[in-house]
Amino acid sequence: MKIAVMRERVGGEPRVAATPETVSKLVGFGATVSVEKGAGEASRILDRFYTDAGAKVEASASAAVKGADVILAVRRPEASALAGAAKGALVLATADPFGNEAALAALAKAGLSVFAMELMPRITRAQVMDILSSQANLAGYQAVIEASMVYDRALPMMMTAAGTVRAAKVFVMGAGVAGLQAIATAKRLGGAVSATDVRAAAGEQVESLGAKFIMTEALKDASGTGGYARELTKDEQAAQAELVSGHIAKQDIVITTALIPGRPAPKLITKAMVESMAPGSVLVDLAAERGGNIELTVPGQTIAHKDVTIIGLLNLQGKIAATASQLYSKNLLAFLETMIDKDAKALKVDWEDELVKATLLTRDGAIVHPNFAGSAE
Ligand code: NAI
Repeated sequence: MKIAVMRERVGGEPRVAATPETVSKLVGFGATVSVEKGAGEASRILDRFYTDAGAKVEASASAAVKGADVILAVRRPEASALAGAAKGALVLATADPFGNEAALAALAKAGLSVFAMELMPRITRAQVMDILSSQANLAGYQAVIEASMVYDRALPMMMTAAGTVRAAKVFVMGAGVAGLQAIATAKRLGGAVSATDVRAAAGEQVESLGAKFIMTEALKDASGTGGYARELTKDEQAAQAELVSGHIAKQDIVITTALIPGRPAPKLITKAMVESMAPGSVLVDLAAERGGNIELTVPGQTIAHKDVTIIGLLNLQGKIAATASQLYSKNLLAFLETMIDKDAKALKVDWEDELVKATLLTRDGAIVHPNFAGSAE
């Protein structure tokens, strides 16, 4: 059983899909682990740390991949980069299948079994494999750190001999995994934190973190299926906009994280709302990858609009790559472990397992996931 870990090639991705800790576990399961030279560098993992954990460091990607039964990756690798892997090799990655059917078809054609880790069901058994949670949590943390670096005032209230500094007002829109961590981080830094969500259940979680929950009377609860939000009706959107516009004008820092499954990010903050904020205010749009919650967001960029900064950076978890890699690698290890027969020290995939069925995109030359099958033919 050979497991390959390649250096990430797409979008300057600084994370890596295995750490010395996970490598040593895999070696313990009887695997041979090959790591491409420099794979962990951006996460502060030197080649020799992998060697010390029992991996073989290879000078090239092709040497690492040659004969591999499993490939661990952060982003979806190109099929061409995986030439030489064993027939039917398993690829565990953030496969980003939506709209990328041609790339999926190429991976299928190469005979690879690609798993999209982001499709992992959010059930108790799979919590340890949930890359969306592990990474969104870190993005929520980092959003507050990024905002605090741009914000040219202190966040906590300080009572000093020279006068009192008031606490910064921080408003978090969307209290899911990322939002709750943003709230917790802003609280730890001493901000006066409020938050909103369209799911009533989020209110209790916000308040348990010591923040104020804000919700309009007109919007009782917009919970959809699986603990996610549903899209708001026009009337509900208008009620939310009214609530938000009054509140935002008084905020110093706003972090937006609102998402609806399978839809573009809802637009929650208009240009006029941004213009109502005081000079020096900062907004961070964590929904930038899906179009953004703020009308002015430019995905991938930090922009100034009048005297207000809008941070639309992508992959914020990548800014704390060492931590992000640590958790991401653990997610992958936990899933891969379910596909290893530890007595036989060999791979043994239960193709009927609900976690496998939910995440498997390609197998035996075809796209097999029900949401994508047939789409590239
Ligand atoms: P997400 O990333 O899809 O959405 C982020 C947040 O935006 C959600 O809380 C959503 O309600 C909110 N939102 C959507 N439209 C909005 C609007 N117009 N205004 C304000 N907020 C809006 O969701 P995420 O963070 O991935 O998880 C959502 C929920 O799923 C969590 O609260 C949690 O209960 C559940 N979950 C369950 C897990 C498990 O059981 N293993 C693991 C992770 C999450």
